[in-house]
Amino acid sequence: MKNRAFDFTVLSFLFIGLLFIFIYSSSSLQPLFSFRKSLTSNTFNMTMQTDELDEVLAETSMKNKTLIIAMVNKAYVEGDKSMFDLFMDGFWYGDGTQALIDHLLIVASDQVSYRRCKFLRLHCYKLETDGVDFEGERLYLSDDFIKMMWRRTLFLGDVLKRGYNFIFTDTDVLWFRNPFTVLSPNETIDLQISTDSFKGDELAKSNHINTGFYMVRSNNRTIAMLDSWYARKDNSGGKKEQDVLAMLMTNGVFRRLGLRVSFLDTIYFSGFCENSRDVGVVVTVHANCCRSISAKATDLMAVIHDWKRAKGLSGNETSTFRWSEHVACRNTLKNI
Ligand SMILES: *[C@@H]1O[C@H](CO)[C@@H](O)[C@H](O)[C@H]1NC(C)=O
Ligand SMILES: *[C@@H]1O[C@H](CO)[C@@H](O)[C@H](O)[C@H]1NC(C)=O
Ligand SMILES: *[C@@H]1O[C@H](CO)[C@@H](O)[C@H](O)[C@H]1NC(C)=O
Ligand SMILES: *[C@@H]1O[C@H](CO)[C@@H](O)[C@H](O)[C@H]1NC(C)=O
Repeated sequence: MKNRAFDFTVLSFLFIGLLFIFIYSSSSLQPLFSFRKSLTSNTFNMTMQTDELDEVLAETSMKNKTLIIAMVNKAYVEGDKSMFDLFMDGFWYGDGTQALIDHLLIVASDQVSYRRCKFLRLHCYKLETDGVDFEGERLYLSDDFIKMMWRRTLFLGDVLKRGYNFIFTDTDVLWFRNPFTVLSPNETIDLQISTDSFKGDELAKSNHINTGFYMVRSNNRTIAMLDSWYARKDNSGGKKEQDVLAMLMTNGVFRRLGLRVSFLDTIYFSGFCENSRDVGVVVTVHANCCRSISAKATDLMAVIHDWKRAKGLSGNETSTFRWSEHVACRNTLKNI
């Protein structure tokens, strides 16, 4: 009897103690609980959003999580011979480039270009664009043109954060050889980027970069680079993202991040601003220094003819090769 009374007292104390702990925790530990709650709901949201992109990145990339990314919109897939058709022709006529399309991800910013991509049985991803209309031809430096480029920068940062290395290519770039055979395999180089004109030094910051073709490895430095780049979106005074990146570079942001950059020689990664000096080794031809889609298409068509002609030449004969003049594009620069 005495023992039972004792047990009861002990149990009562225990009960009061537990009650006290419960009340205490539900008030003062509230922040801890709500933090945990938001953490789980964030994780949940993220897995919801990541699924499709993760899937398409996994199926497109090579074993070493490397892929090629190009962006298209309606204006680039329409017409008899669209820019996108020419882009694909490059891979077809190129030397050792056909198999690369297995690792090419087409990122579409509207439904028309997405359907075109699916029809061609390529790897396709539809970019969410928050109701902005990215369908028409973006006149150079129009507001929508700039918005589209920033959306692309955000997307590419996301790809890096998911652990994928990539080559980004504009669709007005023809691929005639496999760039992986020319790009540096050295893993300490974070960014390899094309130039409008090459100053003869792969490390010189005076090279005028062109974001129409570059390879970037996924690591902390490059993720930080894309973040700093995107962070300038709303205070870059209507500059295009390429100029913002150039500014980050000259302002020493690259140096602060410890980013190692290499500039690509136009002998390999060429364009209309500066032709390749040697068709025997040229890898890409970009319709840069040009301000309309139709002019680009006209002049790129001529480049494909040049390339076919060059393939017929052998050995020493290539030294007599000359690229045709990029007349249509040159004319678009005159009326500014
Ligand atoms: C990934 O593998 C391909 C094919 O072997 C190679 O050419 C490329 O350089 C590799 N990419 C990276 C980032 O190492
Ligand atoms: C990569 O580049 C670094 C710095 O230039 C150099 O020290 C290293 O030896 C290179 N690695 C390879 C595999 O070439
Ligand atoms: C990158 O940063 C994360 C978090 O700051 C760190 O855990 C990771 O080790 C870093 N990775 C490299 C390769 O520096
Ligand atoms: C190319 O080489 C061949 C011999 O291999 C020679 O007969 C021909 O003259 C050379 N052509 C030019 C343009 O140098």
